[in-house]
Amino acid sequence: MQGRLPARDVNRRVGVLISGRGSNLQSIIDAIGGGHLQATLAIVISNRGDAYGLTRARQAGIEALHLDPRAYADRDAYDRALAATLQDRGVDLVCLAGFMRLVGRPLLDAFPERILNIHPSLLPAFPGLDAQKQALEHGVRVSGATVHLVTAELDGGPIILQSAVPVLEDDTVESLSSRILVEEHRIYPEAVAAVLNGGWAISGRRFVRGSGVL
Ligand code: GRF
Repeated sequence: MQGRLPARDVNRRVGVLISGRGSNLQSIIDAIGGGHLQATLAIVISNRGDAYGLTRARQAGIEALHLDPRAYADRDAYDRALAATLQDRGVDLVCLAGFMRLVGRPLLDAFPERILNIHPSLLPAFPGLDAQKQALEHGVRVSGATVHLVTAELDGGPIILQSAVPVLEDDTVESLSSRILVEEHRIYPEAVAAVLNGGWAISGRRFVRGSGVL
């Protein structure tokens, strides 16, 4: 098993990367505001200037930054800028919340086992884009949401939390997505708390919690 810092060494400063509407960001803001999640949102960064999540962040008094990938020579340069900005704000944990870019080595190496992502399917089923559409087209009866640690494998890192959602006979992509989203908003803050609280380790593909881990 790989080691894990105990909770007391975690500074609980969280950075969130977004690309769009930011409803998962909002669920984290609300969990902190409601006292369900002990953390500080140090910065929200979007690769898109028109992401509504930037407005949500500003309304909550959180620094909100548009980092435009077009201003950087290549993907690695952009990821280095992301990592440097997050580190400059003292971030210890990075949450991807609808961040529509692959995370490259410079960012992974800067935050080993410290990047989370939320995905709208029960991974390992339906990784990548349009997960809800994939689920409907496949004809599965159950789908859901997954929070996982980010690794170099797309949507393939250790699973922290999942929640199942039934697929109904008359579901559309929109109706299934909105039911899954309710679960996303519930489990993402819970997963962030689980990671910040420590007492877990990575064993192979598994995120293992509980006694005897530390
Ligand atoms: C969510 O469905 C999330 O699972 C996926 O992208 C969507 C982002 O939604 N990765 P929001 O921006 O958090 O509202």
